Amino acid sequence: MTHSGEKKRIYLSSPHMSDEGYELEYIKEAFETNWIAPLGKNVDEFEREFAEKIGIKQAAAVSSGTAAMHLALMAAGVGKGDIVFCQSLTFAATANPIIYQNATPVFIDSDYETWNMCPKALRRAFEKYAKLGKLPKAVIVVHLYGLSADMDEIMAICNEYGVTLIEDAAESLGSRYKGKQTGTFGDYGIFSFNGNKIITTSGGGMLVSNNAEGIAKARFWATQAREKERHYEHKELGYNYRMSNVVAGIGRGQLKVLDQRVEKKRYIFDFYKRELGKLPGIKCMPTNEWDEPNCWLSCILLDEQTRPREIIEALEAENIESRPIWKPMHLQPYYEEFDFITLQEQGSIAEDIFNRGVCLPSDTKMTDQDLERVVGVIRGLWG
Ligand SMILES: Cc1ncc(COP(=O)(O)O)c(C=O)c1O
Repeated sequence: MTHSGEKKRIYLSSPHMSDEGYELEYIKEAFETNWIAPLGKNVDEFEREFAEKIGIKQAAAVSSGTAAMHLALMAAGVGKGDIVFCQSLTFAATANPIIYQNATPVFIDSDYETWNMCPKALRRAFEKYAKLGKLPKAVIVVHLYGLSADMDEIMAICNEYGVTLIEDAAESLGSRYKGKQTGTFGDYGIFSFNGNKIITTSGGGMLVSNNAEGIAKARFWATQAREKERHYEHKELGYNYRMSNVVAGIGRGQLKVLDQRVEKKRYIFDFYKRELGKLPGIKCMPTNEWDEPNCWLSCILLDEQTRPREIIEALEAENIESRPIWKPMHLQPYYEEFDFITLQEQGSIAEDIFNRGVCLPSDTKMTDQDLERVVGVIRGLWG
């Protein structure tokens, strides 16, 4: 209970600084040296440490995951009128940069095995657009909720057509596909350090690649496309997307506790699986034998469409935050006019998961008692 008599709020996923105070140490150093600019030691070191941690050659720290996605599309050469195949079941920030580039998204359905891009639907999209003589400039696959997409299948199709693959790993830092960090398979990968992510810098993102030239170009665009001249010279359109040296200090500290955070997120998922998995009509989000998910959010799928709202409202009444599954892009009023490729005769798998899914609280500060509270409310609905 809080002093107002209200039960303690349980969050979906909120910022969790290290017990050791690593973040403050790095920030203090930035203050003491007056390096408060969007460049400096923390930025350089955060990029280097991050790249090393995930096993990639290059990383560019930027102001958000959305900015990283925008730069990835630019690096892929996506421009006016180009087509980009994009997973529909995702958060809007995956797709919005396609519009920033005046390109055209074509949304792709998910499958039940991964909740992510269905390789068969992707192949169908390629076949359709090849016939039209309009191959996409890039494909964006997402590792939603930290579950990895079926990368071997998706990479094989992209390679076959020679199309750039971008991975949205905003939610999957710490998730491995066949032993390798998600976000490091495609031509470019993006990560987010937004407040709800597994590690946070309050706001920030990272663009990664093994292509040093691509990352150098992205850094150039992210610093207003300033040419190497004494005066300000601009031959290209630039953006103010670099991460600040203060924020990068938080990132360096958080990176030190990433493994602990992944461990706790997996513990939370296992707890729900054990306690809720046997209730009739509840299935936990899918995990595959090749998948080591970070379990950023623990999600469940209900048999009945009326259940998610009941669960969310019952939890809210107990001051516990939960959420429906992200609403697919092809169902968003803003994106309705764009093409959507599915293998379903009616509706789609993305829509079905949206209608029947719930994201449960997955905050790494939760205690067993907090987890019991959540589970107790849901069990109560089963009578
Ligand atoms: C799947 C996905 N892509 C992209 C983003 C964008 O990241 P940011 O909020 O850092 O711009 C987010 C998170 O917000 C996300 O969940």
